[in-house]
Amino acid sequence: MTTETTYQLLDGKQTSNDIKEELAIEVEKISKSGGTIPHLAAVLVGDDGASETYVNAKVKACEKIGFKSSLYRYPSSIAEDALLSKIEELNNDDSLHGFIVQLPLPDHIDEQKVKEAVSPEKDVDGFHPENVGKMALNLPTFISATPYGIVQLLERYSIETSGKNCVVIGRSHIVGLPMSILMARKAKPGNCTVTVCHSRTQNIKEFTLNADIVIVALGSAEFLTGDMVKDGAVVIDVGITRVKDDSKKSGYRLVGDVKFDEVAPKCSYITPVPGGVGPMTIASLLKNTLQAAKSS
Ligand code: GUN
Repeated sequence: MTTETTYQLLDGKQTSNDIKEELAIEVEKISKSGGTIPHLAAVLVGDDGASETYVNAKVKACEKIGFKSSLYRYPSSIAEDALLSKIEELNNDDSLHGFIVQLPLPDHIDEQKVKEAVSPEKDVDGFHPENVGKMALNLPTFISATPYGIVQLLERYSIETSGKNCVVIGRSHIVGLPMSILMARKAKPGNCTVTVCHSRTQNIKEFTLNADIVIVALGSAEFLTGDMVKDGAVVIDVGITRVKDDSKKSGYRLVGDVKFDEVAPKCSYITPVPGGVGPMTIASLLKNTLQAAKSS
């Protein structure tokens, strides 16, 4: 029998604003004591609308809290070598503490090469294999912004994870893979029994119905439906897809990987889209940048 619960929204917008306020206070302290102001650079290749929105939001967030920021834009025709040279230049630029290369990149550029070219000390995205390895081993490092944001959301809402069944849907290097490691780590939040479901998983519902926590990072609009979730589950929606909607001024609306209207009434906690995981990603990147500046 299905019982409707009153769910609580995991408000990523509010939580990220709280974190940004905390960071702004730290910047002010640093500034007053004559310390180094954190400086983040972003590299944007091509003119993908979503990437542009994300990068602009990252730069704007830096300005808002008093970080320095730089944006380097290149056409999608940029040669791989030229991009790698720019990365080398940023690695050696002592005026910046961290930088990111926004993904995805055009097909002629090898993303793995790019990730490995970024100096691990400036890799505030946490994508370098050295930093992924440290994260897996629970050593201090930069944790990728989206998974780090989710962990902070769980922490700030005091959601118990220890001993819980957690299903992560998706195994991308940016979200699913690090998320599954973080939830299984001997840490708080963590200590979950984690199952990773992906494109080859047969009957995902069998797994999700047994999950106390479901983290969906597929990029497939409204994939997780009400019949796939057990009562009282915590549901984290990482997806954000633009769906055509003529009633909106922009011509589209944003939809998550979760069929919210069906799933939310069964949940104890759920993230909205927009206003859930997205804003937390930016707050986490800023936290990583402060950490980079402090250890420079
Ligand atoms: N594309 C989607 N998410 C991310 C992210 O967290 N960092 C970068 N660099 N690119 C992304």
